[in-house]
Amino acid sequence: NIRPVILCGGSGTRLWPLSRAHFPKQLASFDGGPSLLQNTVTRASGAGFARPMLITAEDQRFLVRDQVEDTSFEAECIILEQQGRNTAPALAVAAQWLAQRAPGEMMLVLPSDHVIDDLPAFHAAIREAVPAVQAGKIVTFGIHPTMPHTGYGYIRVDAGAGNAGVLDVAEFVEKPSLTKAEDYVRSGNYFWNAGIFLFRAEDLLAEMDAHAPGIAAWARAAVDGGATDGTFFRPAEQNEASPIDPISIDYAVMERSTNVAVVPVDMAWSDLGSWNEIWGRAAHDDRGNALHGSAMALDTSNSLLFAGGETTIAALGLDNLIVVAVDGAVLVSSRDRAQDIGAVVKALKASG
Ligand code: GDD
Ligand code: MG
Repeated sequence: NIRPVILCGGSGTRLWPLSRAHFPKQLASFDGGPSLLQNTVTRASGAGFARPMLITAEDQRFLVRDQVEDTSFEAECIILEQQGRNTAPALAVAAQWLAQRAPGEMMLVLPSDHVIDDLPAFHAAIREAVPAVQAGKIVTFGIHPTMPHTGYGYIRVDAGAGNAGVLDVAEFVEKPSLTKAEDYVRSGNYFWNAGIFLFRAEDLLAEMDAHAPGIAAWARAAVDGGATDGTFFRPAEQNEASPIDPISIDYAVMERSTNVAVVPVDMAWSDLGSWNEIWGRAAHDDRGNALHGSAMALDTSNSLLFAGGETTIAALGLDNLIVVAVDGAVLVSSRDRAQDIGAVVKALKASG
């Protein structure tokens, strides 16, 4: 069986004001249906999958638990972080928890802020990866890049390695500069890292021991001293004389390990990272506008109008804008600047 391990602790500031610290984007629905998190739970359920584990923030425990219950699938465990430390510590704790209770089990790491439209392709890629995982590999899933996006990891396979199956990774580069990303996409030898991983818990811990020993030791103590509370598990908070590095699994392990493989997969994947991606996926009117909720566009083109709750948005004579009104906050931004909205949130915080 494969154990889904769902990462659900980011705050997704580029999707402000829909995504907020106390209500991050993965708990939101962008189409009136189930939330991104609920779709993630459902995506990794059924034959071959064990009950999911989730890792989230203490403050979000009831929201997360209730959303999972609504899917009709039951969580095996919800690990609660008192503090977000990025994905390497989160996954080290999950792997440690699992290795102690279900030795040899495979973990399927799933971010909770993605959309995957072709489920059969996703499941086929997982099946394809299993033998390599059982042989001890850390498997990533590769997406054919369509643009030099700098928010992703890039995976190089040696020319001639082919284009399908399980390929050895020659190099992994997390969030390269734009010029590098442009070179990578042009070369044709790179995939985007989908952010989904399959490995045995013990194999991840061995990589952590080798490449991020501080995090590995910290996670061991956190799980050994942790406390179970029904479905919840609270790792022990430690007196951090030398605090661990809050880094992602991509920097901590994927860039450093020589034991990484990639399975290319064409599964209609998107990372709903910013409002531009929301605009891109939505249905458009004949002038390229995407409207959500009570929104009206007059002489307006290529814009996203996202009206939450009772709000009505009326736009006149706009082009290429993002307008989002949710819960008493309004964002107006050029579509070209959608990647920078995290900076707005920082500035707002700084100004109190
Ligand atoms: N529990 C927990 N704790 N979850 C976290 C934390 C944390 O401290 N930090 C982030 N997460 C969750 C996020 O909610 C998200 O679901 C997932 O972990 C990935 O984190 P992101 O912050 O969204 O990563 P990214 O998008 O910048 O980069 C990753 O995903 C890309 C694809 O979307 C990397 O794996 C890239 O290499 C990859 O291309
Ligand atoms: Mg992301």
